[in-house]
Amino acid sequence: MTTSVGSVFGAVLDPVNRHNPYPLYTSLRRTPVGREPDGTWLVTTFREISALLHDPRISSAVDPDREPVGLAPSFLRTDPPQHDRLRRLATRQFGPPHRPTFVADLQQSFEGIVDRLIADLPASTADLVDQFAYPLPVLVICELLGVPLADEPRFKAWIDQALAAENPRDTPAFRELGDYLGDLVDADPEPGLLRSLAHDDGPDGRMTRDELVGTALLLLIAGHETTVNLIANASLVLLREPRWIERLLDDPSFAIPLVEEVLRWDPPVQFLPWRTALDDIPIGGTTIPRGATVTLLLAAGNRDATHVSDPDRFDPDRRPVPHLGFGDGIHYCFGAPMARLEAQVALRALAPVLARARLLEDPPEYRPSPVLRGPRHLRVALQ
Ligand code: HEM
Repeated sequence: MTTSVGSVFGAVLDPVNRHNPYPLYTSLRRTPVGREPDGTWLVTTFREISALLHDPRISSAVDPDREPVGLAPSFLRTDPPQHDRLRRLATRQFGPPHRPTFVADLQQSFEGIVDRLIADLPASTADLVDQFAYPLPVLVICELLGVPLADEPRFKAWIDQALAAENPRDTPAFRELGDYLGDLVDADPEPGLLRSLAHDDGPDGRMTRDELVGTALLLLIAGHETTVNLIANASLVLLREPRWIERLLDDPSFAIPLVEEVLRWDPPVQFLPWRTALDDIPIGGTTIPRGATVTLLLAAGNRDATHVSDPDRFDPDRRPVPHLGFGDGIHYCFGAPMARLEAQVALRALAPVLARARLLEDPPEYRPSPVLRGPRHLRVALQ
């Protein structure tokens, strides 16, 4: 992503502002739909973002001219009808009627992993990212997919390298990850989602090998880079405002509105940078021209005062409002039920630890990505 130095969005991309981009989003919302000096269009208000996420004139497809050879795009980066067929095939593995006990099984697996991670935390100081928020989703997604956990350090390095690039799909690391998953698929993987997908004949037919590798890549990356930040962003809010920890200790069901408000107020996916306009689209008092690249600022839309009152205040007791933390429309996050449950279980179990923890660095160091937002570390002293 390029943009001109000096633009407000340029400041959003600047690592200096990583710890708090929200005042910049407030200025950006003054222009709901605007053109950046590099030609990209930015959309910053709730109604306009939501409208575009439901608009078939906006495409998520990968530009075929920039497509690396041999890697099929996942359904995140395809349009209907290809998107719908792949998403339907993958969804069959995530719940009833095909897998009736999926969520109950997941909850049990989350609770087991969470208890082990908490028991293993050191006695005096801990890093709640490296020792809790990161390993939990990684253990879960590897187990779910049937990808060997022993290989995790290898593919984590590829994911980091790919996501550090402007266009992750163009990197050698992305191709290496694709090759790794391709070999796994060819070798008939361990029991898990990959194996089930490889053998599942849905009403739409079976996934091809390339489609399967693309789906595996998407799920593995989503499982590594999002839920960790939801748990870490929520932990940071709790450490800064201990009265919410008290609430959580008194009432475990408080985890539900708490997680929802974190998804609105400090979402792990800040913006969606890769849409293309397939036609001229009149919106927000202007017209996005056919062929333009469009970036949708989900995190700015979530704090739009015309959609939610007192938007900058973190308030888990507010009347529930729709938010864009999981996107919207046909690409609405496929893993949302799983991510919500995972974060709720994690925070409930972590509450007693947080109650005796003191943050050692505030603001903490953030991950480098302006898109996938979360602290790199959360170092705490434990009493
Ligand atoms: C799509 C956020 C966890 C799988 C999305 C989108 C967002 C999002 C904003 C929309 C992307 C777009 O429209 O271009 C999140 C957040 C998560 C999370 C905040 C955790 C807190 C997960 C997990 C999985 C997952 C754990 C996998 C198990 C997917 C998939 C899509 C998607 C497959 C693409 C859906 C489609 O294209 O139809 N996610 N996600 N996500 N997410 Fe998640």
